[in-house]
Amino acid sequence: MLNLAANMASYQRIVILTGAGLSAESGLGTFRDAGGLWTKYDLEDIATPEGFARDPVLVQGFYNDRRAQAAAAEPNAAHLALARLESEHAGALLTVTQNIDCLHEAAGTKGLIHMHGELFKAWCLACDSRQAWQSDIAPETPCPACGKAGALRPDVVWFGEMPYRMEEIYAALGTCDLFISIGTSGSVYPAAGFVAEAARAGARTVELNLEPSDGASLFDDTRHGPATQVVPAFVDELLKTKNS
Ligand code: APR
Repeated sequence: MLNLAANMASYQRIVILTGAGLSAESGLGTFRDAGGLWTKYDLEDIATPEGFARDPVLVQGFYNDRRAQAAAAEPNAAHLALARLESEHAGALLTVTQNIDCLHEAAGTKGLIHMHGELFKAWCLACDSRQAWQSDIAPETPCPACGKAGALRPDVVWFGEMPYRMEEIYAALGTCDLFISIGTSGSVYPAAGFVAEAARAGARTVELNLEPSDGASLFDDTRHGPATQVVPAFVDELLKTKNS
């Protein structure tokens, strides 16, 4: 790991991928850990367009609960360390998150792509407008833009739907020289394939996760432990090496 830190100062184009594990210590649930959301709900019912069509009340209620929890959550030391890295790193840095909470923004990260959408946005299926949204969405809630009732859904990407801004993400992966994956099980594509894309571009690849992810063997380096410990330590090393 020393040689990784020693080389750190030379990295110019960093891509960071984050997952639910980053927000776990802010009190927000992950999906596949013991007690995770997909151990309590059937994702076919909750996170697919078909599930939404079958039971919009169940799906809206699930996301209303998660929106309220996320609104009450605070960014943790890992979110704050990543925002510090972005502000102090002289080169390019893109944060791609699978998370739909707004804790990266609350910590100060600016260059951010929510590839799975955002809890705090609503999408109207009647007029295709997207609105910032803080409160509950009920099946009869009218769209503020077109007034139609019953056409609003959370602006989150469900299974079977195309994640957002993939062209920008692949362009960044194709030119990055450091790829850092944080708090994700590496079990859902296309995000799970990003490490291979970065490696193909010649980037150094690092996994920071509570435990080895499904894709751990694909990384050049791995550090395991809680994000609030592992991420700030990694960022400190990176910035200290750069400034030394
Ligand atoms: N610190 C660091 N990592 C953690 C922590 C923690 N405190 N707690 C859990 N983790 C790790 C787990 O070990 C696991 O590898 O975070 C990962 C969480 O994995 P998942 O629950 O599968 O979440 P994620 O990888 O973000 O899921 C990807 O699947 O259901 C879809 O759209 C959903 O965006 C989500 C996608």
